[in-house]
Amino acid sequence: MNQESAKTTALAHPNIALVKYWGKRDIERNIPAVGSLSITLDGLTTTTTVRFDPGLEDDRFFFDGREAPEMAGRVTCCLDRVRRRAGVSTYAVVESENDFPTAAGLASSASGFAALVVAADAALGAGLDRSELADLARQASGSAARSLFGGFVELKLTPDGPYPTETGQLLEPSAWPLRVLVAVTDPGPKAVGSTEGMLMTENTSPFYPTWVESSPADLSEARAAVQRRDFEALADVSESSCLKMHAAMLSARPGLVYWNGTTVQGIRRVRELRSGGVPVFFTVDAGPQLKAVCLPEAFERVERELAAIPGVTSMVASGLGDGARVVGDRR
Ligand code: DP6
Repeated sequence: MNQESAKTTALAHPNIALVKYWGKRDIERNIPAVGSLSITLDGLTTTTTVRFDPGLEDDRFFFDGREAPEMAGRVTCCLDRVRRRAGVSTYAVVESENDFPTAAGLASSASGFAALVVAADAALGAGLDRSELADLARQASGSAARSLFGGFVELKLTPDGPYPTETGQLLEPSAWPLRVLVAVTDPGPKAVGSTEGMLMTENTSPFYPTWVESSPADLSEARAAVQRRDFEALADVSESSCLKMHAAMLSARPGLVYWNGTTVQGIRRVRELRSGGVPVFFTVDAGPQLKAVCLPEAFERVERELAAIPGVTSMVASGLGDGARVVGDRR
């Protein structure tokens, strides 16, 4: 990098896991205990600008227009990994914006770290490949590796590979253009963060070993369903993976109850709709929002039905989107 400041803007979308990641194989290196399969959304966006400046004495992080020192530690750790690979030590100003509520189970850390590694790599001219960028994002937040890719994405555990996980695209967004509706039931931050929740589950849930053991079968079922564009099969394995993850969470001590009453109403409604022939299934992450995935023809019906549930405070609609990418100005 030359002495003048190098600046790049990247954007990334959150992703929603259909086969879930919950638990760590290695907490120090943030290696997930299980693989995962997700869809990347296009309706929600994180935009991040990174400017490396030799005049800085520390990294500075701004989130939604305000300096956020409480989040700067994780940002610096992630930047350090990119800097190490690029062989530089210059500090950076990072400005990040989300066009959706943060920390409410909408996977803002996923899009945040995906945009950060892509912007930092480009600003430094490091030219790291996608696999390595995904692995750098994974070290910051497991789900972030998946936002490097668009459409249907799988993160595999690859203990014998060049990286401990390998993430890649299974299907382009246009190959099976599913729609997603996020029914927001509580816009506040979640009670117990993912990392802490995972450790509690691992350490105390009697169901945790079964959860980990049953994941590879769910992954191959979901992978095959995606390859066949078999909605019913994908619905079945996705709801099962979600409920199994929540069963493990609920059976931790103390039990982790991420749902509220509206979440449960939403789950029931989606199931009623599917038994009535509407192609839709639900998934829920470490928060109370309900995510409904449907075929395009069912979108308006599902939107109407979910919006009518008392306690749904807003709805976010999305299609499937592309992976993290640079959108502006290196100089
Ligand atoms: C329930 O990726 O947020 O959304 O690696 O500790 O940052 P860390 O966890 P994170 O966990 C996501 C958990 C989940 C399921 C999923 O996205 O696969």
